[in-house]
Amino acid sequence: MNVLVTGSGGREHALAWRIARSPSVRRVFVAPGNPGTASTENAENVALDIAPSGFEDIARFSREKEVELVVVGPENHLADGLADYLRAAGINVFGPGKAGTMLEASKSFGMEFARRHGIPHPSSETFDDRREAEDYVKNTPGPWVIKTDGLALGKGVTIATGREAALETVRKVMDEGALGEAGRRVVFQEFLEGQEVTAMCITDGEYMVPLPLARDHKRVGEGDTGPMTGGMGAFSPVDLRRYGEGLEEAIRKEVLERAVEGLRADGIDYRGVLYAGLMLTRGGPKVLEFNVRFGDPETQCVLPRLEGDFARVLLACAKRELREYMTGDAVRPEDRLRVKVEACATVVMASAGYPGSYKKGVPIHGLALSGGAQAPSHPAGASGREDVIVFHAGTKIEGGTLVTSGGRVLSVTALAPSLDEALRLAYDKVSSIEFEGAFYRRDIGR
Ligand code: GLY
Repeated sequence: MNVLVTGSGGREHALAWRIARSPSVRRVFVAPGNPGTASTENAENVALDIAPSGFEDIARFSREKEVELVVVGPENHLADGLADYLRAAGINVFGPGKAGTMLEASKSFGMEFARRHGIPHPSSETFDDRREAEDYVKNTPGPWVIKTDGLALGKGVTIATGREAALETVRKVMDEGALGEAGRRVVFQEFLEGQEVTAMCITDGEYMVPLPLARDHKRVGEGDTGPMTGGMGAFSPVDLRRYGEGLEEAIRKEVLERAVEGLRADGIDYRGVLYAGLMLTRGGPKVLEFNVRFGDPETQCVLPRLEGDFARVLLACAKRELREYMTGDAVRPEDRLRVKVEACATVVMASAGYPGSYKKGVPIHGLALSGGAQAPSHPAGASGREDVIVFHAGTKIEGGTLVTSGGRVLSVTALAPSLDEALRLAYDKVSSIEFEGAFYRRDIGR
């Protein structure tokens, strides 16, 4: 089959790479993609406008190229209604419609959803009025976890330890519109201590398959210091032994299954990935946030751990046939989704200044280019070794040279029998890549 993936980040490179390696897949189109997806075997970039004004062109392209499945990468494409549009046009889509996207597009909706369906979550308060939000800060003890209600490109969460800093955040996002309309409403969430873990599952709204747990490193600095980012690195699996028996089952039953049942009870047709960002507390897992798409960079270290015909699994979700696919007699066991025992680690290389402002157009050395401006030579966007993969995120080709074009530039990923070995391979590869101002955390997986 042919598959179209939308998006251009590290997550989409990982999706295109994994889908292209599925036995059932002939061709993967990525719109718009990046130099890494352009160099992935069986994949090519296509210049389609993924805005509502371009939806008709996407549907036409899908029909012309016999695309059997569209996999929507980023949340903004989903929030714009791409999945709804394509489904109405009779095209199979992996990704929820606008109704399901509310889980991520409104943090207050996500918390209210958790409350209604008995999913463990921190207490929270929502404010539309700046003065009321300020009064809340003045009358409660810190630290304050302040989230913009709407989508803010990964910049919507602030943890303020001091009252003045909390008040300043409220003023900036609610009054000065520092994060646009997303911050006109803010959600204060109870501050929880513990370890965070990302639990994703794929679901067709009836049946769900949990993906391996991963941990993301969200702060920019080593030792979890500095501002929040989209994620500076991730690893999978996560060792939960210190939490005792049963935690993984609690995550599946109390969080993922309840969420899928809740969506169904609310009449929401949900076909896609459901992401629960969890805090592991003494009282068990609690959902800090729901997302409606694959995590970035978690996807880069989860997908290499999956075996089976990944594209057909996603197609089964899109067609509401996931249970039959995973349990029925018609599918060979080796085509079902299975998890490798190996560990996988991803280290993000970022531009100096990220998550604040940064320079673009900086040449990247250590990733060879060949075959003209569009085709870096490393196979599958990789180093040439199956166990080390360099997923591109903020890169582009300028005058035949690979240059930076974003804050998170590369997701350097390695798969190995142990996490220590995966980290060693990933950091070895990182040390062979250079661009002016490049930085990365040296404590991923630690
Ligand atoms: N890595 C966090 C996220 O994808 O939201």
